Amino acid sequence: MRFLAAFALLAATGLSSPADAGRPIRFAATAPQGGTLVLPLRNADHLAHASMLDAASRDAVARALTSAAFDFSRASTLTLRGIGSWSKILVIGTGETPFDATLVQDIGGVASNETESDIGPVAVLTQTFPSAGPDAAAQLAIGTGLAAYVFDKYKFVDPAAIQPAGRNDPLTIVTADPARAEASFRGQGQGMVDAVSFVRDLINEPANVIYPETFVDRTHEAFRGVRNVDIQVLDVPAMERLGMGSILSVGKGSARPPRMLIVHYRGAGGQPVALAGKGITFDSGGISLKPGSGMWEMKGDMSGAAAVVGTALSLARAQAPVNVVAIAALAENMPGGSATRPGDIVKAMNGKTIEILNTDAEGRLVLADAVAYAERTFRPAAIIDVATLTGAKVTALGDEYAGLFSRSDSLAAQLLAAGEATGELVWRLPLHANYAKDMTSDVADIKNVVEGGGPGASLGAHFIGSFVTEATPWAHLDIAGNEMGTSWSPTVPSSGATGYGVRLLDGFVRNFRPVAAGNAQGSK
Ligand code: BES
Ligand code: ZN
Ligand code: MN
Repeated sequence: MRFLAAFALLAATGLSSPADAGRPIRFAATAPQGGTLVLPLRNADHLAHASMLDAASRDAVARALTSAAFDFSRASTLTLRGIGSWSKILVIGTGETPFDATLVQDIGGVASNETESDIGPVAVLTQTFPSAGPDAAAQLAIGTGLAAYVFDKYKFVDPAAIQPAGRNDPLTIVTADPARAEASFRGQGQGMVDAVSFVRDLINEPANVIYPETFVDRTHEAFRGVRNVDIQVLDVPAMERLGMGSILSVGKGSARPPRMLIVHYRGAGGQPVALAGKGITFDSGGISLKPGSGMWEMKGDMSGAAAVVGTALSLARAQAPVNVVAIAALAENMPGGSATRPGDIVKAMNGKTIEILNTDAEGRLVLADAVAYAERTFRPAAIIDVATLTGAKVTALGDEYAGLFSRSDSLAAQLLAAGEATGELVWRLPLHANYAKDMTSDVADIKNVVEGGGPGASLGAHFIGSFVTEATPWAHLDIAGNEMGTSWSPTVPSSGATGYGVRLLDGFVRNFRPVAAGNAQGSK
């Protein structure tokens, strides 16, 4: 009863799904005279471009900036009240870095975060930008949309308390060409925001809600009505027929059967770029059980799969001129009477046998079949796999960078460039020829771990790479630690899922240039 009453109240207050949380975004040539005015500023001189402020208000802002010794550093803020007709003027420092998409998105994020509970309309000026691409207003809107994400669907207790006061008042982005900004945002930006929200939802949802079959259901829902998309799902019998003994071995301890989900978006011809994601909907470790403390975080162990499907969604919503196939290798890793045991030997789709010495090294097992399937089925121009693969990666790089591994220098360079351009940074780590010897099994073709340690992130990468032939350019992104946790940017929520990878991979795929498979970094 209480539940029903709370639900009815939620409906009445208009609190809707997380994807449309936040203020409605508008574009206009002028700002309303009232509510909150947001002024991004690089330095005091740029205040002169804030034409909608009268001279007295501009002077007042300038004096306040001086007396506060405001340093205009990136994402710094100063709140002023009682100036002109505005109840609040929020100055956001931009720093001296060039005005790229990431900076503009970050300004949007700060604007959204700092005005969340303001009452009345909010207007953000873009006239004070020293320079920015033609789509700056749309990028700003992307930033506000990404920052406004909340995951509060299970907070039924007091809907009023969790709904910031201003959530239904509009946020107006003031730009010289509102029609163009609107077209750019609706055509491309909104799809990106929705795709990141889709990914964050999948990660934030607990593992009793998101498991392989429901991950598939959510994907079908998200792509409904999106053109040029073909979705295929391999169930257990289909995977058995294909000989995918590796992913099947991971799902055996769970009551929730595994799935291989394939989302193909054809916005162009030619060979596709294949993105394969680790989709462990919960990683208990299996028989090699993890310690209890912090184990709940493993509900996010499907972040790679979410990121690749989210990237396909972002690209397809924009009808971008690319050919991309996202493959989500979905399984729940649980102990149980029919679970895989340490020492078991299984055979992957490409015929290689694997000695499973540790059932907690399961991400590489599901990806072995995913990358082999990608290569055989799609003859892709490149395969990128994305996975929350190792704790060793977190130790090496924290959450500032994803770990990048590739046999191809030119493919690695394209991923590094996409990281720089989108603010989702990656850092390359080695693949050495010795890893092949280290991972040779006494009884099978390869073993899934090297007991006693070693370069854990690189060994995991090597394992996955050994299921892609040398003829296909391949890279591995270890996003362990990037998927959840404390915020590293104004456009990322302060806790929970980050949605890492969508911006990076969207940028990468859009700019992809075919490369040679390469044989770099000792991977001979
Ligand atoms: N999902 C974990 C890795 C992980 C750790 C992701 C921390 C996110 C945050 C993965 O399946 C795992 O358990 N890896 C093992 C590998 C080991 C058994 C070789 C690890 O890192 O300890
Ligand atoms: Zn895992
Ligand atoms: Mn594991």
